[in-house]
Amino acid sequence: MRAIRIARYGGPEILLREDIPVPEPAPDEALVRLRHSGINFMDIHTRQGKYEGSRTYPVRLPTTLGIEGAGEVVALGRDVRDLRVGDRVAYCLHWGSYAEYAAVPAWRLAPVPDALPLDRAAAAMFHGLTAHDLAHDLGRAGPGVTWLVHAASGGIGQILVQMGARLGVTVYATTSTEAKAAVARTRGAAAAVPYEGFAEAVRGMTSGRGVDVVFDAVGRPTLRESLRAARRQGLVVNFGAVGGAVRDLDPIELGEAGSLFLTRPRLADHLPDGPTIRRRTADIFGALLDGTLIIEIASRHTMDDVEAAHAALEERRVVGKPILDLP
Ligand SMILES: NC(=O)c1ccc[n+]([C@@H]2O[C@H](COP(=O)([O-])OP(=O)(O)OC[C@H]3O[C@@H](n4cnc5c(N)ncnc54)[C@H](OP(=O)(O)O)[C@@H]3O)[C@@H](O)[C@H]2O)c1
Repeated sequence: MRAIRIARYGGPEILLREDIPVPEPAPDEALVRLRHSGINFMDIHTRQGKYEGSRTYPVRLPTTLGIEGAGEVVALGRDVRDLRVGDRVAYCLHWGSYAEYAAVPAWRLAPVPDALPLDRAAAAMFHGLTAHDLAHDLGRAGPGVTWLVHAASGGIGQILVQMGARLGVTVYATTSTEAKAAVARTRGAAAAVPYEGFAEAVRGMTSGRGVDVVFDAVGRPTLRESLRAARRQGLVVNFGAVGGAVRDLDPIELGEAGSLFLTRPRLADHLPDGPTIRRRTADIFGALLDGTLIIEIASRHTMDDVEAAHAALEERRVVGKPILDLP
């Protein structure tokens, strides 16, 4: 089968197209014929070596890139009971989806309703599950609650804004351009402001109080100012680092900013088992089907031009979700 792999860390030029054997499913795995893979910023972090030495997401070279996909089950490991050959499934957080086939632990596979096209299911898994966890488990959500969502036109940002608005939250957003701000407002943000001076802008819009929760996936360029945008005893959720990681934060800064809470969540810790995955995906797929959640496919790629998707993400040209169509 064809697969896109890396044997060392670096820029988009290190991606290898290789012919490798179709994997054999282990006893607890299913073999999935992949039709679509999501393309995520996490693939870029993986390609750059940011997970080398990670305990949560151990990456060993050489490896096939890609951490989410959708397709049909074509074979089952001998211990798998609750899946059948032919089932339409989607998954995330298992490496190897830039390929024609993947052997995936059966508990990670979520059923895809017949009415939902597989490309939309693939596009919804990683970003949808992350946003679901952030919104429902961490977001202290409800009417009267205020959030600030950075990078609100991005993959997770757009979903988070929609989920917050649906839960009654007043969502403020940051984006780098006015066109992206318009997208954030369309998704339900009460206001979208530029990054420059965002803490002051948000304080102005909350009568000087600050927001209850800040969702910050940008990291180094924004995190300190995010502390100033949060209310006293507010929560700052630093769930990504597209602009670089913050390595020098002193806990006293949280005290000085108003006895804040700071967390650095990882999706793996919020998807501990199959029932949790199926509960969250049922919610997300249901919302996609009834039109209350919109996840737009930003661009489609083949195995021959994945580099273009990586470059677009790194150059901040993506609004929504890039998808890899598999042969
Ligand atoms: N903690 C978790 O469990 C978890 C799960 C999934 C993803 N993540 C992380 O969340 C982050 C966002 O992932 P995503 O897939 O949703 O990406 P994305 O939002 O689709 O793209 C990144 C966004 O960040 C903004 N941005 C700001 N500074 C940037 C920079 N220097 N370079 C590139 N983009 C920049 C861009 O919007 P503007 O131009 O408007 O700023 C862009 O839309 C990544 O770090 C990813 O690894 C974490």
